[in-house]
Amino acid sequence: MKRSQFIKSSCTACAMFALPGITALLMESCASVPMVKVKLDTTVKEFTIPIAKFEKSKLVIVRVKNFAFDLLIIKKSETEFKTLELKCSHEDQPLTMSNKNIYCTSHGSVFDFEGNALKEPASKPLKSFKTKLVNRVVIITLR
Ligand code: FES
Repeated sequence: MKRSQFIKSSCTACAMFALPGITALLMESCASVPMVKVKLDTTVKEFTIPIAKFEKSKLVIVRVKNFAFDLLIIKKSETEFKTLELKCSHEDQPLTMSNKNIYCTSHGSVFDFEGNALKEPASKPLKSFKTKLVNRVVIITLR
């Protein structure tokens, strides 16, 4: 490849990443959200997360052993939590997230932290699970 061709193709690739939307998406997805790995108590279908996991972040990703998709636990207030399954309601693909929302890289759907679909093709909300705080422990029930 000639030098001029190399520069032209390199600049085209850089220009694609310089688009504001793509740059913002890449930067947002780099934000660190803590991840916790847990094992499910299969008799009661529950697992727990210590409240201390939310000291530095209002969001915690949970990977449950033998569960197909990660979960996102959101600290909504000092006493209120919400758990969403990170599975797209359009065609069951895994979701990723930023500090602003949850999105699907398969076809571009976007969800808020309540699990509502903000952008199609997904139109249904994300699946959520019962989540409560008891004695400084967050209890999530997967029933
Ligand atoms: S699978 Fe997520 S938008 Fe299609």
